[in-house]
Amino acid sequence: MKKFNLSISKTIILLFLSIKPLYSAEMTDPIKVDWSFKGLTGTFDRASLQRGFQVYKEVCSSCHSMQYLSYRNLGESGGPEFTEAEVKAIAASFEVTDGPDSQGEMFTRPGRPSDMFVSPHPNKEAAAAANGGAYPPDMSVLVKARKGGANYIYSVLVGYEDPPPGVTLDQGVYYNKYMIGNKIKMPNNLEDGLIEYADGTVSTVDQMAKDVTTFLAWAAEPELEERHRTGVKVIIYLILLTTLVYLSMKKIWSRVDTEV
Ligand code: HEC
Repeated sequence: MKKFNLSISKTIILLFLSIKPLYSAEMTDPIKVDWSFKGLTGTFDRASLQRGFQVYKEVCSSCHSMQYLSYRNLGESGGPEFTEAEVKAIAASFEVTDGPDSQGEMFTRPGRPSDMFVSPHPNKEAAAAANGGAYPPDMSVLVKARKGGANYIYSVLVGYEDPPPGVTLDQGVYYNKYMIGNKIKMPNNLEDGLIEYADGTVSTVDQMAKDVTTFLAWAAEPELEERHRTGVKVIIYLILLTTLVYLSMKKIWSRVDTEV
């Protein structure tokens, strides 16, 4: 029995030792942002969603794909809610490869609302090759795919710093305290005043990071507002039901109470 216990504790110690490096890898907890879409009744800020799309289009889309979104989605309710004309114009501003035509050739044409978002690279390998070997992940559902969600994405975008003394970085590697190991192969793409927002908002780094993260949160969960509405209805229903059940219980037992 003793021997058995010993081997169990040995196994546990070994397990801990093997897990430890994962936990000790340096990484700061994400910044907590007070998102408008947080909480039970949270909704997306339309203006922020529209600005966020602009940031994606003008900055992120040169490296990151969003292949599960179509331009049409940008006009649907619950999202940025661009008008039909705006969606058409946005789609038409992209060049889509189509075909083959009757000669068997592929050709390009302006995008239509039903087209999926155009990807910057033809495949993962090409995307990684263009970025020093690191694949810029598809951003369609990135907010859901990462622990820390929106807070994490926002933190990475504002988390660039000069490396502390003693830390050396290879070419094409940058210091970011919110990444595991504090190293990221994405350069800092944001700087104050980088883009000219269509609605005149001043494009600080913080503003752009918040807007694009809001846009990505919607892309990852377009049905969020609908889900929140249903949640609130269910809670109201449960409160009414509980009250009714309570009142009828009182009534049913009232006689018993007086007879006892
Ligand atoms: C010059 C190309 C380039 C641009 C532009 C770019 N990224 Fe990246 N991004 C990358 C690469 C490459 C990686 C992978 C980094 C790594 O694995 O070390 C990455 C990683 C990320 C990550 C971390 C994902 C993870 O795996 O946890 C986030 C978040 C991100 N990008 C968001 C954005 C946003 C938002 C924008 C637009 C504001 C943007 N990126 C613009 C190349 C780019």
